Amino acid sequence: MSSKEELIKRLNTAMAWELAGVIQYMQAAVMVTGYEREIFREFFHESSEEARDHAEAVGEKIAVLGGVPTVEPATIRQAADIQGMLEAALALEIDALKAWEACHEVAEAANPGTMFWIEEHIAEEQEHVDHLRKLTGKVKFAAGDIDKSKGTTA
Ligand SMILES: [Fe+2]
Ligand SMILES: [Fe+2]
Repeated sequence: MSSKEELIKRLNTAMAWELAGVIQYMQAAVMVTGYEREIFREFFHESSEEARDHAEAVGEKIAVLGGVPTVEPATIRQAADIQGMLEAALALEIDALKAWEACHEVAEAANPGTMFWIEEHIAEEQEHVDHLRKLTGKVKFAAGDIDKSKGTTA
């Protein structure tokens, strides 16, 4: 397989994760209920639209390289409650980030200009992972790192 073919294949994997994001986030947007709906419906709706834009952008890139953009989404994770939806979103973003990083590994040899475009996507997916790690409470702080001399409630 040529380096260009390998890049097309990996871009198609990234596209499949973006397509999964379109559907997964849309389902979450319409299914989120309870008072969480007020906060998270818009977040899921916008995340779906952003994934659609990313899918289209990567489809454009695949096509200009002579590849056929995929119409098959990657794994779509479903959940009925908000914590499950956010955990599913985090898992999706981690998979999307890995897929974009895999594109980067082969981009320089295949199509150097594309490498920088891929870097922008890696930065964006990392932002999504970071945000969802905070939303799902994955970030832990050491109590000892808080400077109590500046005043605390406890
Ligand atoms: Fe994306
Ligand atoms: Fe993302």
